[in-house]
Amino acid sequence: MISKKVEEAINVQIMKEEHSSRIYMAMASWCETNGYRGAADFLYKQSDEERMHMLKFIKFVNDRDGYAVLSPMETPPAQYKSLRDVFNHVLSHEEFITASINQVYEVSLKEKDYTTGNFMQWFINEQIEEESTVHGILDQMKLLGDDKAGMFHIDKELGAMAAAKVVAPLAE
Ligand code: FEO
Repeated sequence: MISKKVEEAINVQIMKEEHSSRIYMAMASWCETNGYRGAADFLYKQSDEERMHMLKFIKFVNDRDGYAVLSPMETPPAQYKSLRDVFNHVLSHEEFITASINQVYEVSLKEKDYTTGNFMQWFINEQIEEESTVHGILDQMKLLGDDKAGMFHIDKELGAMAAAKVVAPLAE
């Protein structure tokens, strides 16, 4: 049985994961309509992955006799200045999510809910990986520069990353 405090903390996180999915979908749509097909593929996959995160939390809460509920949320931004601007926003959003995941972990420890603490470890590791991927993309952008040739190259690279990316099923 999950405590009310842990249930509430995870329900807030469910909203943030769903919001992340919508934010990345909106970014993907901006990229797709601004000539960045590779970046769009990458962000559509990222959006799918965030939905999987949301589902993972929902299943966990319900499996532990809690009740996962969905919440209203803000409409994601629709306009970006550049591809670099998109990925700067991805990084700051992932940093925000990392802080939020850490908060849920903290609540679980305060509640002596070590099962949830253990479950949260997966997300803690996932955040390390996600932040590192975005840092790598931004580093490459710095290296190649903001001109059209640089962005063309980055877009191709993002397309290749998207093609190689497998969104892990719920069981993993
Ligand atoms: Fe579900 Fe990218 O954090």
